[in-house]
Amino acid sequence: MPSIDTLLAQMTLAEKLGQLTMTAAGYAVTGPVVAGDTTQAIREGSVGNLLNLFGAEAVHAAQRLAVEESRLKIPLLLGLDVIHGYRTIFPVPLAETGIFDPQVWALTAREAAREASAEGVALTFAPMLDVARDPRWGRIVEGPGEDPYVGRCLAQAKVRGWQTARLESADALAACAKHFCAYGAVTAGREYAPVDISARTLHEVYLQPFAAAVAAGVAAVMPAFTDMDGTPMTAHVALLRDHLRGRLGFRGVIISDYHAIAELMNHGVASDLTEAAALALRAGVDVDMMSDAYRTALPEALDHGLVTMAQIDAAVRRVLELKERLGLFADPYRRGSTPERAAALSGRRALARTVAARSLVLLSNVRQTLPLAPSVRTLALLGPLADAPAQMHGPWSAAGDPSKAVSVLAGLRERLPQAHIAHAAGVALRTQPGTDALAAQQAALQLCDAADVIILCLGESATQSGEAASRAHPELPEPQRPFAEAVVARARALGKPVVVVLFSGRPLVVPWLIEQAQAVLAAWFPGSEAGHAIAEILSGERSPSGRTPVSWPRAVGQIPVFFGERPSGRPYNPRDFYTTKYLDESNDPLFAFGHGLGYGECARGNLQLTPAQLTQADTLEVRVEVHNPGERTLEETLFVFTHLPVASVTQPRLTLQGFGKITLGAGERGTLTLHVPATQLRFLGPDLEPLWRPGTLQVFVGPSAERSRLLCGSIELRAS
Ligand code: NOJ
Repeated sequence: MPSIDTLLAQMTLAEKLGQLTMTAAGYAVTGPVVAGDTTQAIREGSVGNLLNLFGAEAVHAAQRLAVEESRLKIPLLLGLDVIHGYRTIFPVPLAETGIFDPQVWALTAREAAREASAEGVALTFAPMLDVARDPRWGRIVEGPGEDPYVGRCLAQAKVRGWQTARLESADALAACAKHFCAYGAVTAGREYAPVDISARTLHEVYLQPFAAAVAAGVAAVMPAFTDMDGTPMTAHVALLRDHLRGRLGFRGVIISDYHAIAELMNHGVASDLTEAAALALRAGVDVDMMSDAYRTALPEALDHGLVTMAQIDAAVRRVLELKERLGLFADPYRRGSTPERAAALSGRRALARTVAARSLVLLSNVRQTLPLAPSVRTLALLGPLADAPAQMHGPWSAAGDPSKAVSVLAGLRERLPQAHIAHAAGVALRTQPGTDALAAQQAALQLCDAADVIILCLGESATQSGEAASRAHPELPEPQRPFAEAVVARARALGKPVVVVLFSGRPLVVPWLIEQAQAVLAAWFPGSEAGHAIAEILSGERSPSGRTPVSWPRAVGQIPVFFGERPSGRPYNPRDFYTTKYLDESNDPLFAFGHGLGYGECARGNLQLTPAQLTQADTLEVRVEVHNPGERTLEETLFVFTHLPVASVTQPRLTLQGFGKITLGAGERGTLTLHVPATQLRFLGPDLEPLWRPGTLQVFVGPSAERSRLLCGSIELRAS
């Protein structure tokens, strides 16, 4: 390969701008290899990057155009949204976060990278690292939930999993951390709406996962569609250039979101495409995804002095460096040249099943309704999501075939061959009831009569979460509620238990359902192996161990509800009217962050914190004794929180500092030990710089953020 300097010296302006352009290609499986004039543009060198093309043959055909037919033979960079799986689909990211196991987070990325790279993909637009505290926002499904520390851990694990230590490996993908930043804080949870948050919240919360991704060596970053404090992120000099590149030291490629550069005109900061292109380039956006602004308008911007050739060259250099790091110059066909073996695929399917099973969260379980008793012979399996394989993947499927996902019906039939499973949807998933609807509902209700247990599969459709899927009423879609109420009433009259399997990309605000059903399993969208995983949990083959990574609201009016809120000057006191509260609702979420039941419960005690006095050079060791008094193996997750009672800046009531797991067999005892480096205990002072404050630090350890379940201790922070 010629050196990047040599290449740059040889490139025309059009060829340079080609390297800064990413355009969509037709899907290999459905249409032409590369649509329309893209083929010619690749030959001319005026398109250097593609998205949405996959399948080894198609990718290599496109690559050949660049490498064999273009003047400078610069390989294409091919990117795809491989979000939680490529063909084998793992649970949606929010669900996977709730496993609280960084090894799993890394492993699913690794396996998805293997699968996608084997078909030619070199870049994934993942991980999505937007902390989200508002379940109205549909994209909460794609990210790490409400907590910045979790986001940091997830970022590290995912970057490691996607990229490995050798980005040039044939099975490594370049990761793209997105959406920088604070997209999760869109006004009122409404997609693409502006963000207006304090600098403190930005730095303490939303930037944290991105800082971790950069530290882990993430190859690319994508700015959010949104406006932040009056400046669209695609043109945000202070955050992209000064903070991300300057302060965090990011050396990789910044790729705009889809059409985001052109949208600078809609934001009202650019009057035409030329200004838009200049703003984005000056802010540090290297690659223009789908605006065609760089290719068509940067020449004029250059003529008018809005940008310099040095700025263009710097961006081109970063793109070429990424292609080099990916090994594309050395061998542009390395990804996609060796098809995967069948054993790799079946092993991945088994992993998808285990991960899905571990992501399911048992929200409630009155009088141990679950697991299903061995005596259960007849099940009524009702609801529009009981036999809906196409919904199981959730909003991102990449190359996954949704029709090949395992439905709850199929999973239960396989797991419980001796049981009679009577199935009826009873009601449509989303659409309003038609004329035959009442008859369908009645037929479904009748199945309750002969059943020992009624399993009701309800919730959102896959497309009701994800991008452009904000919901002002994050509840059961119409017309499921009347159907659910009818089933619950019938079951109550018959004295039979109702188990709800609730599918969603967000915590659904359904307190009435949770109160009325005997058990509720939050399934999120479990992916390809949904039905098998759900059947494992319902049948008791495995105890549920997933935890909710977001506080689960009781009412939409509580949103945002999250454990990291700062204290009020008038803390809630039921005997004092003038304290922080609602007149008509509790302050607390229905389920705290971290909530999730098992088939049995561990006891926890004897919290030990060492050393008792900590300097900045130390590491805090947290030890807790855990006992599983029951008869089943349990996987316990414990969280370590801290609180600085007095500081120059008010401190969140709880700050998450660590989490860990211990698996205990029946009757077993063990000790969970976690380590928190003291530097992590610093807080951002008045000037947003990390500050160490000597004094008492409260430490809390427990299975969730619910106050009453936390063990408490304290240590002294010392100056030296
Ligand atoms: C828009 C989405 O915001 C982003 O997450 C995604 O990577 C791009 N489209 C490309 O599909």
